[in-house]
Amino acid sequence: MRVKVEKDELMLKDSSIGLIKLLMVLILFVIGIIIGLVSSSHIDRYFNSQPNNFYMNYVTVAPAPSYTTAIEKTKVRDNGYNCSTDLSNCKQQDCLSMEGFRMPKNVTHGMRDKELFWRASLVPDKREYPFERVPKVAFMFLTRGPLPFLMFWERFFRGQDGNKYSIYVHSNPGVPLSFPNSSVFYQRQIPSQDVRWGTVTLVDAERRLLGNALLDFSNERFVLLSESCIPIYNFPTIYKYLIGSTYSFLDSYDDPTRYGRGRYSLRMKPDIKLRDWRKGSQWFEIQRTLAIKIVSDTRYYNLFKWYCLPSCYPDEHYLPTFVNMFHGALNSNRTITYVDWSLGGPHPASFQAENITENLIQHIRNNGTTCSYNIEKTSICFLFARKFNPNALGSLLRLPSTLLGF
Ligand SMILES: *[C@@H]1O[C@H](CO)[C@@H](O)[C@H](O)[C@H]1NC(C)=O
Ligand SMILES: *[C@@H]1O[C@H](CO)[C@@H](O)[C@H](O)[C@H]1NC(C)=O
Ligand SMILES: *[C@@H]1O[C@H](CO)[C@@H](O)[C@H](O)[C@H]1NC(C)=O
Ligand SMILES: *[C@@H]1O[C@H](CO)[C@@H](O)[C@H](O)[C@H]1NC(C)=O
Ligand SMILES: *[C@@H]1O[C@H](CO)[C@@H](O)[C@H](O)[C@H]1NC(C)=O
Ligand SMILES: *[C@@H]1O[C@H](CO)[C@@H](O)[C@H](O)[C@H]1NC(C)=O
Repeated sequence: MRVKVEKDELMLKDSSIGLIKLLMVLILFVIGIIIGLVSSSHIDRYFNSQPNNFYMNYVTVAPAPSYTTAIEKTKVRDNGYNCSTDLSNCKQQDCLSMEGFRMPKNVTHGMRDKELFWRASLVPDKREYPFERVPKVAFMFLTRGPLPFLMFWERFFRGQDGNKYSIYVHSNPGVPLSFPNSSVFYQRQIPSQDVRWGTVTLVDAERRLLGNALLDFSNERFVLLSESCIPIYNFPTIYKYLIGSTYSFLDSYDDPTRYGRGRYSLRMKPDIKLRDWRKGSQWFEIQRTLAIKIVSDTRYYNLFKWYCLPSCYPDEHYLPTFVNMFHGALNSNRTITYVDWSLGGPHPASFQAENITENLIQHIRNNGTTCSYNIEKTSICFLFARKFNPNALGSLLRLPSTLLGF
């Protein structure tokens, strides 16, 4: 009994000691907070005042070099370092120009591919643009020599809204191309490198075109064209078709023959399996999202570079396979560039001067089949056609504009 009372008393004592301790801790804590608040506001005030003074000193002293006159000083200050009007100030200050950032005026630059692809892969997190963004179609010409259908293309672009398209030309460095200053192709040549057909350098050139075109934030659709390609509809039709499409037009199919699956290399395992392997025409048309994914890929590109060697052709397999594996939902899996394989053999038919008729164009436009477009069907399956022999230019230019629409 006695033992129990003592125990109870002890417990009571214990708990009251605990309470007092808790109170003291609380009081100390509150005092601590008060001291902290008071001192930090002092510190804030102290430090805040420093940068202000520093900044004021800097602004009044820094911009005007000692040799400028008083008049020049006020001029510089009133300008507010306007980089878009006066670039000479940018030598002293690291100015950022919005114009040049959202659309480089000069497509010439000294960036290596690695640097270009990194820049091209940047995506704004903010949904709204701080400028009025009219979506553009980027026409990307991959050419070996000069453009034989330059005059036909000039006619195609004549009178069209320059805010709706942009042009990029990748040509072999050995072939100097020069366009008159009145041409829409004037100064649209990107820094190019040698392309050897059937090698990965062809894919490099495609990615280089994409990378350069991505630097213009208004480019929304990207179409790859060769020197033997022509448009078979007018610009407004093509623009509406591409900008209105939910899907990209990148040819991608499974070819079970030795020209398809036969080119797969087991060394690409485990990253790429035979069931992932696809084939398709290199002449694609893709949307911005997909273009960014393509310039951002290194891993799968490298597998093709290392293991897709003759008689495997990277340009026929890399994009169809890569897009099938990761971005199939964005793709219509068909191409919008017509080509005629009906003659058989390893090369498609090449249209000569004597083949160019209204009927040919009509036939290319519509052979009686329909194609999927978003969730509908359309009779327009192709917007561009190849291959045309350079001797066809005259006949093409003589086609009535009522037929072509330009
Ligand atoms: C900079 O120049 C642009 C174009 O001339 C002009 O619209 C803008 O108001 C200028 N900005 C400043 C701060 O002077
Ligand atoms: C474009 O930039 C290149 C190199 O950066 C320069 O040599 C060339 O003169 C520039 N062209 C124009 C029209 O500004
Ligand atoms: C275009 O080139 C012609 C001759 O080559 C020249 O006379 C003219 O001044 C140039 N125009 C512009 C805007 O540079
Ligand atoms: C294209 O193929 C992908 C598979 O790579 C598929 O997911 C997609 O639905 C196909 N697109 C259309 C429009 O059928
Ligand atoms: C072009 O015309 C020639 C001569 O009429 C003909 O032999 C050839 O098959 C035609 N080519 C195509 C692709 O239609
Ligand atoms: C029409 O064109 C489509 C698409 O290229 C092709 O699949 C089809 O075989 C062609 N039909 C005829 C009758 O030529």
